[in-house]
Amino acid sequence: MIAHKCPHIQVTIVDVNAARIAAWNSDNLPIYEPGLEEIVKARRGKNLFFDTDVDKAIIEADLIFVSVNTPTKKSGVGAGYAADLFYIELCTRRIASVATSSKIVVEKSTVPCRTASSMRTILEANSRPGLRFDILSNPEFLAEGTAISDLSAPDRVLIGSLGTPEGKAAQAALVEVYANWVPREKVVTTGLWSSELSKLAANALLAQRISSINALSAICEATGADVDEVAHAVGLDQRIGSRFLKASVGFGGSCFQKDILNLVYLSESLHLPEVADYWRQITTMNEYQKRRFSQRVITSLFNTITGKKIAVLGFAFKKDTGDTRESPAATVCKHFLDESAKVSIYDPKVPESQIWLDLTVPGVQDGEEQVKKQVTICDSAMQAALGAEGIVVATEWDEFKTLDWQAVYESMAKPAYVPISPSLSLVGAELTSTENSFIFDGRGILDADKLKAIGFKVFTIGRGE
Ligand code: UGA
Repeated sequence: MIAHKCPHIQVTIVDVNAARIAAWNSDNLPIYEPGLEEIVKARRGKNLFFDTDVDKAIIEADLIFVSVNTPTKKSGVGAGYAADLFYIELCTRRIASVATSSKIVVEKSTVPCRTASSMRTILEANSRPGLRFDILSNPEFLAEGTAISDLSAPDRVLIGSLGTPEGKAAQAALVEVYANWVPREKVVTTGLWSSELSKLAANALLAQRISSINALSAICEATGADVDEVAHAVGLDQRIGSRFLKASVGFGGSCFQKDILNLVYLSESLHLPEVADYWRQITTMNEYQKRRFSQRVITSLFNTITGKKIAVLGFAFKKDTGDTRESPAATVCKHFLDESAKVSIYDPKVPESQIWLDLTVPGVQDGEEQVKKQVTICDSAMQAALGAEGIVVATEWDEFKTLDWQAVYESMAKPAYVPISPSLSLVGAELTSTENSFIFDGRGILDADKLKAIGFKVFTIGRGE
């Protein structure tokens, strides 16, 4: 977006992963994001460059955005909760050892509160004499699938700095960059720690809304209320607001879970166990929602799905992205596989290789063979539904709304033989029963009445019978 909006600024994106950089320089960009390809192709080679020469880029830059992965730690202190700052540290050390002039270093990755302080210590301890490094925190608030519009018209841009004159000057330099397209009043400046914590707080509050509406969805199903009606009614209260109240099979993505766990870890480190428990409950509710949905599929299909074919439509964590990180679709598929079902999966943007990666445990050969026996990856929703007894909508892709559901219905499995009584020679007769044509709408995007008119049995998340 900076390259797009500021033709006078040269933007160089560097990564140690040569294959990734090659993909950014090719016709096949490594990620799908609506509108991104047009911008990259328009600016690439002009003021936007992708390179593997990290050191050269560090030496040439005035301002460096550190945008590396900060996954949840898998081992050691804080495993399962704390953010792994290995790449942040590696990157910071590299900047310190390579830089030959002063730099503004911008923390763009989502990091725990006070990470900037560690970065500053590393930079100051390892750099050449006479160089200055000013650290800014500039968290990103874009959402996948809408990244380009979120970046071009953000609700706000947040820039945190130290309160020193040098810190303020660095902050002003970054404000100038955003001022090329973002109205000044939307560029918020704060202290470093407020900025770092605001990122975690924003994601925690957003995820909290989803877990709240999902908790209500369970009550709706049990009472006959309709969660969309409830969300609409409460969302009209301006203090609550209407957005981010769509009940679902659970939230996914690389951020919510990770950032909440990070906040839980922070609260525990600060000896605030009640606060930690409060935030942890958001992810507990999310796990419950996914499990509850899978269980509903199983009970509807007469309490067993062993050997039954279930079509899963959508594998990405949300529509308009090929990203599957923490996708609820993957969790639901795993629940079905554990119950020995056959699962056919279709997603318009997720590559087949990614689905295999997500469903198998790397290095466990037997598990991989078993998964390959149970799972088929399909090129269309229609193909996935062929012969299935139940269809699960796991991602809210628009194309699922306009499927030819009549044709889907006809292609689904029907019980082949129904021997009503041995004395009646009905054995072998086809029964066009609707008994096995179930749709489980985990995103509340389908017109249930229309589907019922076709003959489907429909379960929609958050809607009572
Ligand atoms: C989220 C935040 O929305 C961004 O503001 C933030 O910058 C980003 O994380 C990040 O930290 O990088 P993202 O995860 O890309 O963005 O996507 P969201 O639109 O927030 O959706 C997250 C999950 O919540 C998806 O699985 C989505 O389907 C689900 N969701 C969202 C619901 O179930 N209901 C809703 O009403 C909204």
